[in-house]
Amino acid sequence: MKTHARGAHPTIAVYPGTFDPVTNGHLDIIERGSRIFDRVIVAILENPEKDPLLTVEERKRLIEEATRRLRNVEVESFAGLLADYARSKGARVVVRGLRAVSDFEYEFQMALMNRRLNPEMETVFMMPNEAYSYLSSRMVKEVVALGGSVRGLVPAEVERLIVARAAPGGGRRSRVPAGILTAPPGVEGSAVGAHGRDGRGGRGRARGAAFRRRRGGRG
Ligand code: PNS
Repeated sequence: MKTHARGAHPTIAVYPGTFDPVTNGHLDIIERGSRIFDRVIVAILENPEKDPLLTVEERKRLIEEATRRLRNVEVESFAGLLADYARSKGARVVVRGLRAVSDFEYEFQMALMNRRLNPEMETVFMMPNEAYSYLSSRMVKEVVALGGSVRGLVPAEVERLIVARAAPGGGRRSRVPAGILTAPPGVEGSAVGAHGRDGRGGRGRARGAAFRRRRGGRG
């Protein structure tokens, strides 16, 4: 899809998300996208309704540091509709990562709504390396808040910052809502639900989907 060399318009792709925090799964998608598209704009949603662990500025800096060697990748933030933001950037492609079937329903709805809002924009799904197929920002935060290690799942600088902020005995009180950490099996809102608490999809997957619908994202 790299068209620049052939003299056509460069293909600009937007990779939107919350990135609270960016994980190695996100970075894997960014790298794959950078090999296909002329420009990749990583777009961090400014969402005042969420209570993020990291500020937009912190998230931007961390992604910039982690993607410095990728010359055609830039990082921005946006507010409002993704369809409008992509149009303002001249981007005809939205990249989203698909980790598992459980991501599909939400992504399908979002892609079709975005197509309705901006018919010129196409959503392209990319699969991250299977090593990251279970990985989510939400789970990273939960593991850190419970004192576990996320080494190898996020860049070292991300690990340092979220441990300082969210780990037990870290720099300040945990910002990960207690309900997420303690929800018993079968209760919506469990962080594990995103991939099925039962580890097989099934009912866990349905809970995850309901949870994502409620919070408006996949984490
Ligand atoms: O990382 P996430 O939380 O799964 O990313 C979700 C995101 C930011 C891509 C999505 O919430 C979004 O695009 N929000 C902007 C508002 C919008 O355009 N809504 C209509 C389409 S769903």
